[in-house]
Amino acid sequence: MTDPLLSELLGLAQDAAHRAGALLRDGRPADLGVAATKSSPVDVVTEMDIAAEQLITGFLSEHRPQDGFLGEEGASSEGSSGIRWVIDPLDGTVNYLYGLPTWAVSIAAERDGERVVGVVEVPMRRETYHAVLGGGAYAKGGAYGDGGAALRCRPAPPLDQALVSTGFNYVADVRAHQADVARVLIPRLRDIRRGGSAAIDLCDVAAGRLDGYYERGLHPWDLAAGDLIAREAGALTGGRPGMPADGGLTVAASPGVFEPLQSLLEELGAWHD
Ligand code: IPD
Ligand code: CA
Ligand code: CA
Repeated sequence: MTDPLLSELLGLAQDAAHRAGALLRDGRPADLGVAATKSSPVDVVTEMDIAAEQLITGFLSEHRPQDGFLGEEGASSEGSSGIRWVIDPLDGTVNYLYGLPTWAVSIAAERDGERVVGVVEVPMRRETYHAVLGGGAYAKGGAYGDGGAALRCRPAPPLDQALVSTGFNYVADVRAHQADVARVLIPRLRDIRRGGSAAIDLCDVAAGRLDGYYERGLHPWDLAAGDLIAREAGALTGGRPGMPADGGLTVAASPGVFEPLQSLLEELGAWHD
């Protein structure tokens, strides 16, 4: 990588994600409870979400005091360097609360509003995924070994043989609508998965462990790192046709699966404004 700023940002993001992942994995209290709720009674925050965000923002601002932040648990500042960190300190909180292994730390860096670095750490897989804009996507640890490997999305099957993941929102009305969409999709796909972490879903598309993923209602911190990793692995990502992935709709899939999946989601009204 030739740009020394991007190398620095990548190294810091990897270090911060690793530290937060270790805190979450090793420091999870046996009696972990819910500290607060957000958009609905099932949209929970634990003390560990908050501790992980504080660790990440503290670490990054120590090294780069002029940078801005957008973090799910409240970090929000403009900064003056042109760099902003977009952080989901614990993506998959409900899994974490229940002791299920599918949760991640997601950290992205934007330069002048453009995503340039993405890191997703998945402690219970012992895997870390990363990408730098224009530099490809990589994973190390776990199935990839200490040396790591480049990520490539899967060759596209026909849509009716595609394994596609999705997520359901915390708001009951939105979930009901998402279930209507999924009911129509299920017979037209190989199957649907609901893993419980959008960041991991996006990395699994990058890694060829899923053919596609879609979800309505994501926040910037859910998708910032994973979207870059998926794209750098050769996947296509977007929202409604012609639009970038955003809170209205996020679709990520291998080329050849992306187009028919996105059209079908458009036909079914799977987005919101
Ligand atoms: C959630 C997860 C989940 C997705 C939700 C997200 P959180 O993030 O990514 O898979 O379906 O839309 O809000 O609340 O665990 O950080
Ligand atoms: Ca999240
Ligand atoms: Ca979160």
